[in-house]
Amino acid sequence: MGANEPPPANEKDLSVIKKCLFPVAGYGTRFLPATKAMPKEMLPVVNKPLVQYGVEEALSAGLDEICFVTGRGKRAINDFFDTSYELEHQIAGTSKEKYLSSIKEVITRAKFTTTRQSEMKGLGHAILTGELLVGQEPFGVVLADDLCITEGDSVMEQLAKIYRRTGCSVIAIQEVGDDDISKFGVIAGVEEEPGLYRVTDMIEKPDLADAPSNLAIIGRYILTPFIFELLRHTPPGKNGEVQLTDALLSLAKSSKVLAYKFTGKRFDCGSVDGYVEATNYVYENIYLKGEH
Ligand code: G1P
Repeated sequence: MGANEPPPANEKDLSVIKKCLFPVAGYGTRFLPATKAMPKEMLPVVNKPLVQYGVEEALSAGLDEICFVTGRGKRAINDFFDTSYELEHQIAGTSKEKYLSSIKEVITRAKFTTTRQSEMKGLGHAILTGELLVGQEPFGVVLADDLCITEGDSVMEQLAKIYRRTGCSVIAIQEVGDDDISKFGVIAGVEEEPGLYRVTDMIEKPDLADAPSNLAIIGRYILTPFIFELLRHTPPGKNGEVQLTDALLSLAKSSKVLAYKFTGKRFDCGSVDGYVEATNYVYENIYLKGEH
């Protein structure tokens, strides 16, 4: 918890992060027609859907309570994280059983809750909708179409380590080129340790001329529960949507937000180019090496 944030109503140990919120209500319009009747989070990168990579990343950081904010047409996500009796019965004892081992492990280790976002009013609104599931605890956020692959700690684990020693909200950032700046939330900050910045400014999808730096937010966050209060009072911003970036800027001004230049690779699997790049990378570096 940052210095000026009010204490939470209960006495829970705030250094422990158990919950991870997955806003998965978005339409995935950049992938139409593939996403017309299928959630974009179920697109496979080689043999696993994007959302499974995200949940595995949360689990790697010890966040085993997975909270989905879904919308219409997203039932496949809940079905995916449920037992599939007929299928499992069919392939029990055959050589095909091994193909289900990774998802079965996820289902055994994680607990799942879901709520629905009835209107699409932006990422900030999706996070606020998740308050019902998260309550007054710090929590992770994974945007599943940002696929992150690391050699050591996962990106969520890198953020969790910083959160555990600082108690501040922390977001993952990476340097991006001029052509890509306007696709991201962009921060300005003071570097307090190598790669770790105290956020001083933050703009959602700025024009290049207005960008405060080349440090872009990627879809991994650890947030303190005070963010919900700020989101409640955040007016619609860029594109008429309630932006998480705007609420985080309020938090950075009244308290402290950290941004960490994570180690690893991030693929924008919400775009066809990024998705193809991710597929090739995972195929060559993970699948063929048998690490799936
Ligand atoms: C969201 C956030 C943005 C962030 C991006 C990372 O935008 O609003 O700040 O940089 O995710 O992927 P979206 O891509 O969902 O429009």
